[in-house]
Amino acid sequence: MCGIVGYIGNKKAYPILIKGLSRLEYRGYDSAGVALLEDGKLNVFKRQGKVLDLTNFVADNPTNGTVGIGHTRWATHGLPNDINAHPHTSGDGSITLVHNGIIENYDILKKELIKRGHVFKSETDTEVLVHLIEDIKEKSGASLAESVRIALNEVHGAYAIVVISPEEPNKIIAAKKSSPLVIGMGEDEYYLASDATPIIEYTKNVVYLEDEQIAIIDRYNGLRIFSISNKEVSPYVQELEMQLEELEKGGYEHFMLKEIYEQPRAIHDSFRGRLNAKEGWVSLGGIKDYEDQIAKANRIIIIACGTSWHAALVAEYYFEDLARIPVEVEYASEFRYRNPIIRKDDVVIAISQSGETADTLAALKMAKEQGATLLGIVNVVGSTISRVTDAGSYTHAGPEIGVASTKAFTTQLVLLAMMALSIGKKRGTIEDKKFQTLLDEMEALPSKIEQLLKSDDYIREVSAIYKDAPNALYLGRGSSFPIALEGALKLKEISYIHAEGYPAAEMKHGPIALIDENMPVFVIATQGQNYEKVVSNIQEVKARKGKLIAIVSKGDTTVREIADHVIEIPNSDEFVVPILATIPFQLISYHIAVMRECNVDQPRNLAKSVTVE
Ligand code: M6R
Repeated sequence: MCGIVGYIGNKKAYPILIKGLSRLEYRGYDSAGVALLEDGKLNVFKRQGKVLDLTNFVADNPTNGTVGIGHTRWATHGLPNDINAHPHTSGDGSITLVHNGIIENYDILKKELIKRGHVFKSETDTEVLVHLIEDIKEKSGASLAESVRIALNEVHGAYAIVVISPEEPNKIIAAKKSSPLVIGMGEDEYYLASDATPIIEYTKNVVYLEDEQIAIIDRYNGLRIFSISNKEVSPYVQELEMQLEELEKGGYEHFMLKEIYEQPRAIHDSFRGRLNAKEGWVSLGGIKDYEDQIAKANRIIIIACGTSWHAALVAEYYFEDLARIPVEVEYASEFRYRNPIIRKDDVVIAISQSGETADTLAALKMAKEQGATLLGIVNVVGSTISRVTDAGSYTHAGPEIGVASTKAFTTQLVLLAMMALSIGKKRGTIEDKKFQTLLDEMEALPSKIEQLLKSDDYIREVSAIYKDAPNALYLGRGSSFPIALEGALKLKEISYIHAEGYPAAEMKHGPIALIDENMPVFVIATQGQNYEKVVSNIQEVKARKGKLIAIVSKGDTTVREIADHVIEIPNSDEFVVPILATIPFQLISYHIAVMRECNVDQPRNLAKSVTVE
């Protein structure tokens, strides 16, 4: 939700900022802008649209400054237009800043500032903050950094900001609360960004700014960090593990397709050092010290949003079946406002690709205040959720750039499966034979997915038949029901086709009224305990002339006779079917979106990381 970048050093800032913004464009693409300091002058360029629109707009203008900031916006306050685009500048033109987050008390502050003579151009909360800093600076005669610090003590809400001023041309001031900010440490140069992706090609040494910290970066005196109450803290420099190639499309037309194809590798990386079927063990180092606590938990509460919430629903089946611990799955956004009952012996697991989702973070903080043990299942290394939880495990999917989550989801499932297996083993609620079978099934996943991806051409042909459907229904039972939800979400978000996911047996309680010869119904009908029941549900669809696209186990003949199309997945235990059945649904959404000429990697109105409520 908005990407911010900054640079101070000896190189030209503009190309660094633009490249950084392109890397962060997944966070928002309503408008883009940069501000550069050159010879004591401030140049601000901003434009509605994508980073490319900004570069075309800037084209022949001077862009030689070696200090600058940039922003790519996902609109919250005010329309996505040129005026509301960041950077926002103070009335006297002496301060400009970029912001990710929401200033919640902007309205009260704005009214007071207007009374004091400030004139606003935009509808944004951000412009209020820059005027507030200006007001404080003017009245107190304080430095830019001190004025920022005083202003931040007056605002409520979330912010990551980067501020520059032609009056202090050799400095960048940055601060954060509840929105991420990373500082890259180069040789006499510094990079700032919402995540490490714009930084990795210049330096691997980074400092993750903590909440309510202010960084003062001086071209000559380096980096100093202070708390918002003005106590100096030592920067903690970490080394990034990310590789630059992970951020490129690598010959694929879209990041989403690349990320779908990366799943065998990503799942393999998730297993590394954690699961060995031959030796018969599974162990998650990140939660090792908390295993006893999880095994003794009164219940597990899983909180998440979107696709990560679907992973939580699958985990409910995993934990209840294998570890016999009651599980509750919660939308983070609902949980945090429901006054839920949380006990000290509850274990709360947050699932998040980005590790920055505002609702998930807020729900976690609430659970922490009530004494629960917090665990995180996160993809982005060093992200806020990974730092506020007591313990956790990274999914190791690698950077996911496409806004639609793919490999992050399947690796979440893999990690949750490993967790349920290890806790089940510890509690003695899983038989040795079943434990071994499931380890074997898990270890076979990467090669089974490789096999499944070979059906991509056929899946594209099937997708072409349904690309113009206005609606679609997705059905599944048991642990495949959340995969029906995920399939429907994927289709909605990237191809803009209205789709609903339902437990197959629930269809007859309402959605069946929608079925006619124009309704594609995607159903997971693989071998397992619900197979015959699902076949009956399929018959009900067919009896109403619905178009049936069924995901079946290899060699299935029964469903093949009824369905319009079948997509086979390799024969497997039901335990891993949710992971395998996800892949054809990802490919169907992808192909349909491409055929409908939708922007696959950056679907309208969405952002990869939702850091506002
Ligand atoms: O980063 P998170 O996993 O916390 O994000 C949660 C959702 O915003 C995310 O899964 C969203 O639903 C994706 N666009 C799904 O593809």
